[in-house]
Amino acid sequence: METKKINAAITAVGMYVPEKILDNKYFESIVDTSDEWILTRTGIRERRMMENGATSDMATKACEDLFKTTNVKPEEIDAIILATVTPDMMFPSSACLVQKNIGAVNAWGFDLIAACSGFLFALQTGSSFIESGRYKKVLVIGSDKMTSITDYTDRNTCVLFGDGSAAVLLEPTTDTSYGIIDSILHIDGSGKDALNMKAGGSLNPASHETVDKRWHYIYQDGKAVFKVAVKGMADVSYEMMQKHNLKGEDIAYLIPHQANLRIIDATAERMGITKDKVTINIDKYGNTTTATIPLCLTEYYREGKIKKGDNLIIAAFGAGYTWGSLYLRWSLD
Ligand code: UT7
Repeated sequence: METKKINAAITAVGMYVPEKILDNKYFESIVDTSDEWILTRTGIRERRMMENGATSDMATKACEDLFKTTNVKPEEIDAIILATVTPDMMFPSSACLVQKNIGAVNAWGFDLIAACSGFLFALQTGSSFIESGRYKKVLVIGSDKMTSITDYTDRNTCVLFGDGSAAVLLEPTTDTSYGIIDSILHIDGSGKDALNMKAGGSLNPASHETVDKRWHYIYQDGKAVFKVAVKGMADVSYEMMQKHNLKGEDIAYLIPHQANLRIIDATAERMGITKDKVTINIDKYGNTTTATIPLCLTEYYREGKIKKGDNLIIAAFGAGYTWGSLYLRWSLD
């Protein structure tokens, strides 16, 4: 007997961003920078900061927001995949903490680390769980409290990052013209020296020395990452279009990771996609690492811009290096 193919479809979305705003003027007061430099070099105007609470608290709020929009109850969730580089603790996983907070009493789950590609990798993982037929309801969350690992004396990095969280619910659909259709994913560990947080793991356990060297903060060689990010995101997105015979006009939105507006523009240009078909939230939230893409999905859907039947290409690039693209057809009314 032939088994019917199943696709995973996004059937609900939710988000949370903290209230406190750090605008570019604030950074002028703490490091040698300017609103003009930040805006023209990155596209960022402001970002959010979680003052009381951690990554799991933001993820919990994003899930609570999601559950307001669906008949699915937390106890029906089979699995929780939480993408993050800023878990509340090394262990237990933040997925466990979210499970407890939302009352997903029948779920299992785990944290997934793939830096800025974390949500993309988690979405593909959750999609495979659904496609296997074994799981019916999977929560995929991107949540990062980047301000907890940002060095506010380093102008190269401190202006870039912000806090936020967003979640999607995956459920099966037998109409395989909808849902997650394909992904192309890559990792390359030769990027480890260009973007990292050196201490706190088994290589450099916390010590006075690691603190003195500021190794518990993000380090980035921006120029080196910029070059590979542009090529990586553009190439893999173009490859996805070729593979599925898609032209720029067939795509409703490119949903790129939000690290730098210039990287986003270069990717869209390579794909032949006009600027009005690229989701942007970097101006409001900066780089929220795993949350940039699900925040874009949630906001553009809620604003009525992403509609049922839309072809969407998600693209990301991050530390590792990690990168990839994912093709989905939106199934929510
Ligand atoms: O999210 C995961 C992956 N990450 C990325 O994709 C990020 C990729 N990289 C970038 O987005 C960009 O490289 C940055 C936005 C980080 C930096 O922009 P850039 O145009 O590559 O600047 P740069 O690093 O080449 O620095 C140019 C100059 C330097 O000064 P000198 O050496 O030319 O005198 C920097 O010191 O800009 C200086 N600079 C700043 N000036 C004012 C660096 N940061 C700042 C700042 N304000 N905040």
